[in-house]
Amino acid sequence: MDEDAKEARKIYNTYGKFFVKKEEKNPDRKKISQIIISVINDSREKKILDAGCGTGKECELLAKRGAKVVGIDVSEFMIKLARKRCKNLGVKFFLRDMERTGFERESFDLVLSVFSLMYKKNLKAVLKEFRRILKKDGELLVVVPHPIERMVRHTKNYFKRGKFLKINGNIRYFNYHWTLEDYLNTIISQEFKIEEIKELGSSSLEENYYPHYLVIKAKAI
Ligand SMILES: C[S@@+](CC[C@H](N)C(=O)[O-])C[C@H]1O[C@@H](n2cnc3c(N)ncnc32)[C@H](O)[C@@H]1O
Repeated sequence: MDEDAKEARKIYNTYGKFFVKKEEKNPDRKKISQIIISVINDSREKKILDAGCGTGKECELLAKRGAKVVGIDVSEFMIKLARKRCKNLGVKFFLRDMERTGFERESFDLVLSVFSLMYKKNLKAVLKEFRRILKKDGELLVVVPHPIERMVRHTKNYFKRGKFLKINGNIRYFNYHWTLEDYLNTIISQEFKIEEIKELGSSSLEENYYPHYLVIKAKAI
């Protein structure tokens, strides 16, 4: 595990409950899950990796739709919650860094990364790993906070790439800010073809004048 993965592990093991509550209160979460399902089309029989699975929300949704799902995360606390949520659904969970998953090459039909890529400094290494474990024509689905949202709420400067600190009461945690071209060009550079992009607003009306979430669907070529 690199330093960021170790830091993320510590943050989610220590403040996991806070993040779970925050996510439960997110009015946009249902919409995001619906978009994920609609973009994936048919998940039956697909072998899917959820990289940075957290509490296993998407693992549960996809397993219930007939997919064979594997979830990985760096946090023991999150994996524990995910195992509980997905009990009896046949989902397998492993404590692993998404940059070095340890799976055999061409093991998956689909790799999903929902709100986890922004914990990584080396996007290229992660995308290389995703491409390695995906079958040819396999799908990649990435959901991240939209870079414009990062700028409005955090960095103020769109081009100020890199690690930044988020503070919420006593809780301090980090994210990386990458621009739209960073995400898209890195994905393209690792032998993926971008197939679809969605920019989603927020349900909160006063903040609905800029995109909050970025969804990228790509195909392994
Ligand atoms: C914001 S949560 C998102 C969880 C879940 N995908 C969701 O959408 O609800 C980010 C998750 O990524 C995990 N994570 C952070 N860095 C990681 C890494 N390098 N490898 C695997 N998981 C990581 C965290 O432990 C945390 O559970």
